[in-house]
Amino acid sequence: MSKLPVIAIDGPAASGKGTIARRVAAAFGFAHLDTGTLYRAVALAVLRKGGDPSNPADADAAVRALDLSLLEDPALRAQTTSVAASKVAAIQSVRDELLAFQRGFAAHPPGGRGAVLDGRDIGTVICPNADAKLFVTATPEVRAHRRFLEHKANGTLITEAEVLADIRSRDARDSGREAAPLKQATDAHLLDTTHLDIEAATERALSIVRAALRT
Ligand code: DC
Repeated sequence: MSKLPVIAIDGPAASGKGTIARRVAAAFGFAHLDTGTLYRAVALAVLRKGGDPSNPADADAAVRALDLSLLEDPALRAQTTSVAASKVAAIQSVRDELLAFQRGFAAHPPGGRGAVLDGRDIGTVICPNADAKLFVTATPEVRAHRRFLEHKANGTLITEAEVLADIRSRDARDSGREAAPLKQATDAHLLDTTHLDIEAATERALSIVRAALRT
């Protein structure tokens, strides 16, 4: 069987990459993997055991015993889990342990038609030969505003300034780490969503992917 199409979508928190990835996957009938949930699940397992997400021994134990049912846990989206996820994600052995699962998903996606993976290192490390690569970004202020509105809608008590501070510190950790830092692959298409709503951003993503797949 010839290789199935793989779409890599990377970018910082609240850039819109998750929604874009879901919509691209739905439009092409491909399976979607939000790889951030893997790091979040490891982080949640560490926190629930009372461990330290920055401690490689605690994070390694959690990733080796990872229970995939945690991927559905609503606590994955909590602010404390987000912060802990960016800490476990900086540990190389955690990334190594999650690599095979992600590559396996890309090579053998559920449904057997193609795969869309979104994260921080999909185009650079996990799927460097992806058929289409997008790097989705927006200014920290715009991303913080979007995330703040989500928190408000969910009834989470947090100020926009706190969300911006969190986004800046996660960006610094995700981009500044040695292990697979967040960066645009040289052959990725840049999609800046600062002045685009999600509909317009999705349209641009779809036209990039269509051109890459020549459909
Ligand atoms: O996309 P997200 O906010 O759910 O990701 C949670 C954390 O996991 C984030 O701080 C960066 C990290 N991450 C990563 O390092 N590599 C990925 N492929 C996906 C997420």
